[in-house]
Amino acid sequence: MIEKINALKAEIEALEAATPQEVEALRIKYLSKKGSVSLLMNDFRNVPADQKRAVGMAVNELKTLATEKINALKEATENTETDLSGLDLTRSAAPLPMGTRHPLMLVRQEINSIFRRLGFNIAEGPEIEDDWHVFSSLNFAADHPARDMQDTFFIRRNPDVLLRTHTSSVQTRVMEHTQPPIRIICPGRVFRNEAISARAHCFFHQVEALYVDKNVSFADLKQTLLYFAREMFGPETKIRLRPSYFPFTEPSAEMDISCNLCGGKGCSFCKHTGWVEILGCGMVDPNVLDACGIDSKIYSGFALGMGVERIANLKYRVNDLRLFSENDRRFLREFAGAH
Ligand code: DAH
Repeated sequence: MIEKINALKAEIEALEAATPQEVEALRIKYLSKKGSVSLLMNDFRNVPADQKRAVGMAVNELKTLATEKINALKEATENTETDLSGLDLTRSAAPLPMGTRHPLMLVRQEINSIFRRLGFNIAEGPEIEDDWHVFSSLNFAADHPARDMQDTFFIRRNPDVLLRTHTSSVQTRVMEHTQPPIRIICPGRVFRNEAISARAHCFFHQVEALYVDKNVSFADLKQTLLYFAREMFGPETKIRLRPSYFPFTEPSAEMDISCNLCGGKGCSFCKHTGWVEILGCGMVDPNVLDACGIDSKIYSGFALGMGVERIANLKYRVNDLRLFSENDRRFLREFAGAH
């Protein structure tokens, strides 16, 4: 019996196969129910009792050897199965479609880079905020309607935890920890409880700018705005400021730019006025500086805030806000190659 086992062992060790089919034939020959190894097992009952242990071990070893050998052959032949004769190896590979940058990110990056050229640094803050950073520090009266549930998503009441409704909250966060000069822009996502339509969404994006130093004046603000408008929309762009109101700035203004679709002649986009509104701005209210620990007798500042979607509409004429967040690849692909 032991000789038989050793003979089989040598035979199995020397096995070779070139294709998976050959390996399968070997498997059947040695390991199937009627294969040579299994037949050996049948002889086992005739082995004298005192040899059973040694022979049993040898048979088991043989079985393991055969299984391992056949598995190794199988692995070695599996990859050789591909028939390369019909393949054209000179053909170019299937094209990998390039991803595109999201239009809002393109616009945001452009805004950022314009302000960086003026020496502004980027500051970011949390989207989940408290009342102090979003409202109280920014001079919102206790009964200001923007605090209302109609506008603001509250996560918890007393103490209030809410989704920021504007990126002006980042102004506070920076001023609380930094003494002037401060020159920052704050890009980010904001949330308001609006019914979703072509013209409104429950979240959108803003970029806020803040400059605080000694002797910052309205003239600095105007020049910054003009520079921004011309860099963003072209050197022919005109700007116009209209008096407005924001709790955190005094005086406050809204800026219009000459309509870049009709060149100021009047079209349906600018409602035939030749102007389109793009941002809010003003001189930082002294109450805000003081609330954030900056002495308003020494320092002054200006701030401005704009919606990124609005600028993207002007640049790319996207007239349905919902497209920005639907991830429709046909829409996103329109921006392939833009940078
Ligand atoms: N926070 C304002 C808004 O969400 C935008 C804004 C207006 C920001 C005037 C400013 C500003 O910094 O001076 O509508």
